[in-house]
Amino acid sequence: MSLPKVFITRPLPPPVVERIATGCDVKVHREDAPLEPMQLAEACQEIEGLMAAGARVSEDLLEHAPRLRVIANVGVGYDNIDVAACTRRRILVTNTPDVLTETTADLSFALLMAVARRVVECDRFVREGHWHYWQWKYLWGADIFGKTLGVYGLGRIGKAVARRARGFSMRVLYYDIVRPSPALEQELGAQFVDRETLLREADFLTLHVPLTPDTHHLISAREFAMLKPTAFLINAARGKVVEEAALVEALQSRRIAGAGLDVFEYEPQVQPALLALPNVVLTPHVGSASAETRLAMAMLAAENLLAGLEGRRPPTPVNPEIFQP
Ligand code: DGY
Repeated sequence: MSLPKVFITRPLPPPVVERIATGCDVKVHREDAPLEPMQLAEACQEIEGLMAAGARVSEDLLEHAPRLRVIANVGVGYDNIDVAACTRRRILVTNTPDVLTETTADLSFALLMAVARRVVECDRFVREGHWHYWQWKYLWGADIFGKTLGVYGLGRIGKAVARRARGFSMRVLYYDIVRPSPALEQELGAQFVDRETLLREADFLTLHVPLTPDTHHLISAREFAMLKPTAFLINAARGKVVEEAALVEALQSRRIAGAGLDVFEYEPQVQPALLALPNVVLTPHVGSASAETRLAMAMLAAENLLAGLEGRRPPTPVNPEIFQP
C-alpha cells in the first residue's frame, strides 16, 4: 500500500520531518517564505495531508486538493484556514494549543515592559551616542508594579499573562464572554468586570481573543475613547482585533500613552504612521518564536497529522465534529 502524500509548507526541523516520514511520503517547501496561492494549489493536488505553517487555506485551495483529508496547522490561531469549508468536505483541521501558551504570554509581558519602560527608545539612545552624562529627567517611563492590568479574554494565554502580573504586584481585572470558576479567579487573583469597566480602569489593556467575526475591530475609536490617557495597549493576539486607523489616531493624539504590538491589521505591512511613533514597540508576529516552543508546535502538528491520516482522533482537533457519523 502506498504511503499518504504530505506537503509541509515551510522547512520545519529535521526531527519533525523525519517523524512524519515514518508514515508518509513527504515533500517540504525548502524556502522559509510563503508560496504564491497557485504554487500552493499545485503542491496540494495529490496530497492527503497538509502541514500548514504560515499558509492560508481558502476554499479555492481546497478545490485544488481533492484528496486532502487532514490539515495540521502549526499555530494555535486558525483564522488562516477556512474551517467551515473544511468541515463541509470532512477535512480534519488541527491546531497547536497549550505548547505555546507560556512563550506567547512572555512576549505579551515583554511588550508591556518594553513600552512602559521605553526599553527600545533607551537602546536607540545609547546606540546613537546621545548618552553623555546621567540626567535627572531623561527617558522617564511608567511604573508597572501596582498598576491595573486589564486582560481582555481569559483563555489559556490570558491566564498565563495574569499569572505573570501577580509577580509584579499588579491588580488584575479581566473580561471574557465565559466566566471561569471562582477557584480559578482566586488562584489568578483576577477580578471579573464588565467590558466598559475593564477599558476605563486598565493601565495596561492586553488582548487575548481569537480572531472571529465577533472580535473583528473589537477595539476601535469608541473603546479608545474609554481608555485612560495614560493607558497602554498590548496586542499579541491578532491584528484585525484592533481597528488600526483608530489606534494610530489614539496614539497620535495622545488619547492613549502607547502600544506594544506583535500583530497588525494588514501584516506584514505596518502603517508608516506606526513606524513613526516613538511610543510604540513593534515586533513581527513572534509571540511563539522561541526555539523550544517552535519545535514543540511542529511536533504536536506532526502528531496531529499522523493521527488524522491513520484515522485516529488527533490530540488537538479544531473540528472534531467531522468524527461524528
Ligand atoms: C499562533 O499560534 O496562532 C501564532 O500566532 C502563529 O500564527
